[in-house]
Amino acid sequence: MKSFFYSLMTTILLTVATTVSAEDGSALWLRFGTQGQSDVTGVKCTAMDELKQHWQGGPVVLKKQKKIAKDGFSITTKGGKTFIEASNDAGLLYGAFHLLRLQQTGKDVSNLHINEKPFFDLRILNHWDNPNGTVERGFAGKSIFQYPDAEKMKYYARANASIGINGTVLNNVNAKPEALSTENLQKVKQIAEWLRPYGIRTYLSVNFASPIKLGGLDTADPLNPQVVDWWKKKVAEIYQLIPDFGGFLVKANSEGEPGPCDFGRTHAEGANMMADILRKHGGIVMWRAFVYNPQSKDRAKQAYEEFMPLEGQFHDNVIIQVKNGPVDFQPREPYSPLFTAAQKTPVMVEFQITQEYLGAANHLVFLAPMWREFFSYVQPQKLRAMAGVANIGTDTNWCGHHFAQANWYAFGRLAWDPTLTTEYIADEWLRQTFSNDERLVRPMTQVMAESHEACVNYMMPLGLHHIFAGGHHYGPEPWYDVPGIRRDWTPQYYHRADSIGLGFDRTRKGSNAVEQYPASLSARLNDINTCPEEFLAWFHHVSWNHKMKSGRTFWDELCHKYDLGVHQTRQFLTSWDNMKPFVDAQRFDEVQRKLRIQTRDAVWWRDACLLYFQQFSKLPIPNDVEHPIHNLDEMMRYKINISMYENPAYGYDK
Ligand code: GCU
Repeated sequence: MKSFFYSLMTTILLTVATTVSAEDGSALWLRFGTQGQSDVTGVKCTAMDELKQHWQGGPVVLKKQKKIAKDGFSITTKGGKTFIEASNDAGLLYGAFHLLRLQQTGKDVSNLHINEKPFFDLRILNHWDNPNGTVERGFAGKSIFQYPDAEKMKYYARANASIGINGTVLNNVNAKPEALSTENLQKVKQIAEWLRPYGIRTYLSVNFASPIKLGGLDTADPLNPQVVDWWKKKVAEIYQLIPDFGGFLVKANSEGEPGPCDFGRTHAEGANMMADILRKHGGIVMWRAFVYNPQSKDRAKQAYEEFMPLEGQFHDNVIIQVKNGPVDFQPREPYSPLFTAAQKTPVMVEFQITQEYLGAANHLVFLAPMWREFFSYVQPQKLRAMAGVANIGTDTNWCGHHFAQANWYAFGRLAWDPTLTTEYIADEWLRQTFSNDERLVRPMTQVMAESHEACVNYMMPLGLHHIFAGGHHYGPEPWYDVPGIRRDWTPQYYHRADSIGLGFDRTRKGSNAVEQYPASLSARLNDINTCPEEFLAWFHHVSWNHKMKSGRTFWDELCHKYDLGVHQTRQFLTSWDNMKPFVDAQRFDEVQRKLRIQTRDAVWWRDACLLYFQQFSKLPIPNDVEHPIHNLDEMMRYKINISMYENPAYGYDK
């Protein structure tokens, strides 16, 4: 009797424990269930372990096939068996996860003929993690790499492999020299060993002045033989510990970080020095083009201006890593003109998965539409690789917001296949993460698909950009100013509101940023009547009375867009409220709470921006737009005290 009682209690406790952990979001989209004894034969590798554990169908055979492209795979059904073939272990693993995804999303797996290969060779996450455990622009807790353990790292690696990610930069681009200390390299070695079975190579961000700060030299001049020697020894030390180390990511001469220009050398000279040393070990350099200085008349032009003169000078294992837009991960930006201008310089795109400028981990904003929009202007063929600034931390659900997991997911899927549509990715993710029930999948796919445009509407419609609060990038402060501050760090620099209108004149009569785009696009952007309206205030100083396609004046359209954003978020909340029958209680409540914050924040954005800009337009807010419920003075006094390492616990609460 006693033993019956104990076993009953154990069963209850175990059930409670698994149910709780299954419903807190920690499982991400990997909810295959466990079978544990599937019939899987052939090549012994990680793919075999995964399938043995999680596959619930008939026999699977894993085979090597040299003819298949690196990391690609084929899945074929023959004689009641499923064959996965690939030329390398990673390809087999991607094939295995593909098969598991089909199973999990309820697809027919009885007769498969699939051939897949990744579009980009390098599909890499950039973590902005600091040695002290903070994560710059991280909204999901602390760094997962500060005190890494095998179990957590394995789950991280599996999640990445399941969506094809094959590289990870472990530390912040604002890199501390200690990243290369022998002590840290020992830690990196351990992490690399955990990630390797899942086809993930490890990379580090490095501080260009490391030879001075870590090596004790008096210079970091890339042409100085002692400096070169220091890097050679350091790189040799790294490869001894981590034979498949991927290479360096470098933020140089940007926002106060050191770089070759400090020693009178060019970006090319700095990057090539490192690349030449890494080449013999098979490593690469990803050199960032995120550069701007206060002297320039237009920040949006600077990456192009600094990097185009270096065309053809970078060695073949250097890739220039360029943010998708020319300013800085704004809710909407036109693409950075470097992508179409660079002919001889290999470029890769850097997207930001973490929502630094998109409501942090409080707002539901699915980023696939934004990245798809980028690819509608820049052909993926122009790019060497795709990097994403991660939104991952120690929070139980990894990303702070359950729906933020979808952005990690979408990044991986688009790096594998940039032609996948927003709806396709959302549908796939929802089915795996929540349920295959159409009553959830359909409405929530729609919410996800609309969410980015909604965020643009309530934050910065019609080409507005960078009107964020001074201390953080969460709420609105189009008025932010401090005596003596760099002008390009104030919202006025970007919005230029005055009695005539709103927006930054980047036409030929203004800063002429339009000139950096290909001729036909440049002409279209330059003309206020042909410039896409979503970029109007990006390229033009638009008069308040300018006639929009809708027939409204620009001012009225601005009011409508802000208001539309508010209504869209309320609709998202209603849609989610209807999901209660299909979602477990914990995740339902947590998402609902965040959506409530988002609806309040949308009102905050609308009211703050319209009331502020109204001081310049002196025009009434149209009658069919919900009128501000706040008062500008109050909002201007309102401050959220958060650092760049945390998620605001709540938004506007007045
Ligand atoms: C933005 C961000 C910084 C970051 C920088 C970068 O400016 O706010 O935190 O360091 O981008 O990408 O280097």
